[in-house]
Amino acid sequence: MAEESLKESPPEQIIKSRKRVQDHGEVFTPSWLVSDMCDLVAQECERIDSRFLEPACGDGNFLTEVLYRKLNTVQRHYGRDALNFEVYSILAVTSLYGVDLLPDNVTRCRERLYQQWEEAYLPHATSMKEGCCAAVKKILERNILCGDALSLRQADGSPIVFTEWSLINKCKFQRREYELSALLDEQGESDLFSFSLDGSTQLWQQDPDDPTSRIPAPKKEYPLIDYWRLS
Ligand SMILES: C[S@@+](CC[C@H](N)C(=O)[O-])C[C@H]1O[C@@H](n2cnc3c(N)ncnc32)[C@H](O)[C@@H]1O
Repeated sequence: MAEESLKESPPEQIIKSRKRVQDHGEVFTPSWLVSDMCDLVAQECERIDSRFLEPACGDGNFLTEVLYRKLNTVQRHYGRDALNFEVYSILAVTSLYGVDLLPDNVTRCRERLYQQWEEAYLPHATSMKEGCCAAVKKILERNILCGDALSLRQADGSPIVFTEWSLINKCKFQRREYELSALLDEQGESDLFSFSLDGSTQLWQQDPDDPTSRIPAPKKEYPLIDYWRLS
């Protein structure tokens, strides 16, 4: 029986073409290894709001595994409460970020994450279903970006900007945008503040309780919005 089921499952494809391997180092991580690596940070993978950024995310092998684990947590905690299942499953999606050079990988990564969320969500859908589905598509458009994780720029040359989604009062999201370069900049440089190229935008702010701190300042901040109206 075990042998039969082994025969039935096709081998996992870890490369698409020799050219893509040569040009972009595109070799996908097999699922057993993804799972073993996620086990190393198992608690974070299960925490609904812990944020993950994968800088060369491919078509999402790691991000889908993390979403799978987060959605299991949502199911465990809110499986019998449709409204909370809805909002916390969306929160799980907001916590995942990816960048990849290749547009087809980015599209596939968004699709896989969307399908995974939708499959878990539909049995719990409420009257806000349409809005929620559109919201998750919008979140994935913002969180999974086509760009270069080394230059920190998108394909059109603009800086990679990520959105922080914070859940407020269990039903609204606060949306703030940050340049990835500011988020990755190391602490402890000689200048306390740095500025964007046009000199107008302050990228850093201080924690009032800690004068030596440098926390990134958002480039843009939006008013609070109901989760089903995000799109
Ligand atoms: C080794 S694959 C890994 C994909 C995925 N992380 C996985 O483990 O299955 C490498 C991916 O990195 C992408 N990549 C290579 N250089 C990159 C760069 N500078 N910025 C963003 N993505 C890059 C490629 O397009 C490819 O999809």
